[in-house]
Amino acid sequence: MQEENKGRRDFMGMALGACAAVGGVGALYAMKRTWDPLPSVKAAGFTTIDLATAKPNELMVEKWRGKPIFVLKKTADMKPNDRDIVIGSDRFHVSIGLCTHLGCIPAYVGVEHKFKCACHGGQFDASGEVLKTPPPSPLVIPPFKIEGTKLVLGETGPEYQKMLDAGLTA
Ligand code: FES
Repeated sequence: MQEENKGRRDFMGMALGACAAVGGVGALYAMKRTWDPLPSVKAAGFTTIDLATAKPNELMVEKWRGKPIFVLKKTADMKPNDRDIVIGSDRFHVSIGLCTHLGCIPAYVGVEHKFKCACHGGQFDASGEVLKTPPPSPLVIPPFKIEGTKLVLGETGPEYQKMLDAGLTA
């Protein structure tokens, strides 16, 4: 009889232990979910753009931290600029798509190779340099890192750091 009780106690002990272990794992998972950033926050931090899909003189507009991002693959007849992102033999202009005057979104006019801002008539060339005021400065280049043909926005790679040190990003 005593043996039978002991067996039952052992079983109860093990069952309780298993429940506690499962509960513990569940609690850890719940805590991890609480501490992890929300997917939207993660997405807002970094944006990866595959430049292999870009077509010459066709503006791609992506989004990074709620801002429009201009990606323009340059054609051979567009003037090279130290602000270009160079991948292999291709050159790209990448910038935050907000006019540096008062923040309107300029439109890209492909036949003229210009960004034109409808708000007060400002214009930028295909490298984001000011062609016509009132914008006080070029389109801003966001922090980026090159990974193969991909661009990770929000990370500072050596190419961005070089531009930053040379005062070319804004
Ligand atoms: Fe672009 Fe004023 S906001 S010219």
